[in-house]
Amino acid sequence: MKKLLCGTRADWLCEVLASRMGLPLYKVTHKQFPDGESYVRVPEEVLGEDVIVIQSLIPPQNDSILELILIAEALTENGTKEITLFAPYLAYSRQDKAFLKGEPISIKALLQALSFFGITKLVTIDIHKPESLIYFKGPAKNVIPVSSLASELFKLSDNPIIVAPDKGALERARMFSEKLNTEYIQLEKKRDVHTGEISLSSTLKNLNGRDAIIVDDIISTGGTIAEATKLLKKAGARKVFVTVSHALLVSNALEKLRTSGVEEIIAANTLPPKHNIRYVDITGEVKELLKHF
Ligand code: R5P
Repeated sequence: MKKLLCGTRADWLCEVLASRMGLPLYKVTHKQFPDGESYVRVPEEVLGEDVIVIQSLIPPQNDSILELILIAEALTENGTKEITLFAPYLAYSRQDKAFLKGEPISIKALLQALSFFGITKLVTIDIHKPESLIYFKGPAKNVIPVSSLASELFKLSDNPIIVAPDKGALERARMFSEKLNTEYIQLEKKRDVHTGEISLSSTLKNLNGRDAIIVDDIISTGGTIAEATKLLKKAGARKVFVTVSHALLVSNALEKLRTSGVEEIIAANTLPPKHNIRYVDITGEVKELLKHF
């Protein structure tokens, strides 16, 4: 039987996943040495066993990654051969190419490092580009939690229009529109590769008081969603809802979204919970996969 091991960067969802899977949960001990270095210890009960490590690569991302590497090292050093990583949020996935000469493909570096340190299988939620998983050496699965999120969206609005804020969100929008049995549209987004500044445009027809639901993988600074919301409001949308897998919401993102006119944010629980967000538990969508992967 596989053993479930919770890293310190996933504690808000470990218990619920463990009870859904009907497995006992073991927890990593972590502390920081006075000089800033990290220390981890893995419980003896999981050593040498097939282990599912739950660790979301949340901010501060580099600390989450290092802790994971130390966990993997402790396990392999003690005879564990199979380590399945469940990483609800996979950091660095947006740097999936070198936008400028001299940049790394960060997600490639990360996934290759995870393989190198002995992680043999990977399950993640809504990676920015599923194609990036090719850099991981073993089997890897990306789960877009459309069913869980859609069941919450059903309660909020009748006949909404689904909006992809950019080309990258198009497939996600198609999946949501199929689930909610409604149509979808796509906005055009341009990002300045030097400043990171974005601009959105569209050839939107009048929405005539219809609700809109913007679907995206992640809200970071909130810039994309705020601009998209303003466009939709201008085009006559009644309420604008947003649903994302990763509500990172850095600095004043939440405030930016409220002032742009966002009605409500519905997010998967891949990151630690914050106020004023409607969270949806997505562990039900991975429990069987993790058991039999
Ligand atoms: C980019 O292509 C992503 O899908 C998100 O739209 C983007 O990363 C969100 O970032 P922000 O909230 O800073 O606009």
